[in-house]
Amino acid sequence: MLLTDNMWSCVCALILAFAAHCTVVSGVLSSPANVQLTSTNMNLVLRWDPPAGAPGDLLYTTELKSTVSQFNPGCVNTSALECDLTSLVISIYGRYTGRVKARRGAQSSEWVLSEEFVLDKQTSIGPPNVSLHSNRANLEVSIKDPVFVKSTLREIFTSATYNITYWKKEQKKELKHINGLQQNRVVLHSLDPWTEYCVQVQVIASAAQKPSMPSRVVCASTTGEKEPPWVGAVVAFFVLAGVVALVVLVVYYWRSFSHFLCPKYAIPDHFKKSLLAPPKSSMYLAMQTSQPVEEFSDQISVVMCSRSEDGSLQQTAG
Ligand SMILES: *[C@@H]1O[C@H](CO)[C@@H](O)[C@H](O)[C@H]1NC(C)=O
Ligand SMILES: *[C@@H]1O[C@H](CO)[C@@H](O)[C@H](O)[C@H]1NC(C)=O
Ligand SMILES: *[C@@H]1O[C@H](CO)[C@@H](O)[C@H](O)[C@H]1NC(C)=O
Repeated sequence: MLLTDNMWSCVCALILAFAAHCTVVSGVLSSPANVQLTSTNMNLVLRWDPPAGAPGDLLYTTELKSTVSQFNPGCVNTSALECDLTSLVISIYGRYTGRVKARRGAQSSEWVLSEEFVLDKQTSIGPPNVSLHSNRANLEVSIKDPVFVKSTLREIFTSATYNITYWKKEQKKELKHINGLQQNRVVLHSLDPWTEYCVQVQVIASAAQKPSMPSRVVCASTTGEKEPPWVGAVVAFFVLAGVVALVVLVVYYWRSFSHFLCPKYAIPDHFKKSLLAPPKSSMYLAMQTSQPVEEFSDQISVVMCSRSEDGSLQQTAG
């Protein structure tokens, strides 16, 4: 069967008309604008603006591909202006491209592609979590890394450091810095006592495009450089109590002590004589004439602390 030229032109016209019709149907909606992939802490979100001058009741469908995969469906018929595509991420080191089209009833727009996004390089690092502990005139800063949706900060940015900025709350202009800190704890020394300081921390990862978002500002007051006065009083009380207890013990076990202190060997005679010789000081004579007190007799027993060979204590009345 042969088609005449006339019939051919007729078919072509039909095809053209149909193609034109299709173009009209899919092209009725203009496309979403500002389509871009964004990421914070290694998630992956496609965002877009509605088509210019479009009615409000649009639904959007999104897809994501990487350099090693075809487009995979993300959100379908969502009315939101963003779609979380993190679950489609196959490698944290991948390069991704997203696309979105708008739909209204039977009409759809063209797909609009985002720019290629290098996830591990372009992700924004969220703020670290900072806490402050005051220790007399020092402040201890503890930093927690932001938690990543995929992997961890330290796995992706092995050499990440912290920049710490701190200032007196009353003097916001005089900022001090500790940069390139590697450990997640640091003590701020040489601060003024009884002063409120504020601290803010950023994570700096050289492999990332920009530093992390700054942490929230946390403030705390230093206290005095020395212990408060009551600490000294408490220490003095315990020392005094110890001394009193010792004195009580010594008095209580005096007999055992004197046995221990009085050896069994005899004191040489000439030494004993000089010890027993009546003292010549007028003070001692005055004491002898007064009433003997207990300490006095104790004193005698110490002075007379010598034993005869049978072990009985020699007592000499004063
Ligand atoms: C999305 O909406 C279109 C048009 O209304 C409809 O044909 C399609 O079935 C919907 N898809 C889903 C998954 O709901
Ligand atoms: C920061 O750390 C503190 C103490 O561990 C915790 O209570 C708080 O929820 C954390 N804040 C954030 C934003 O993670
Ligand atoms: C962090 O510290 C480094 C080293 O001093 C400095 O070059 C960089 O500008 C600082 N970054 C920020 C965001 O303050």
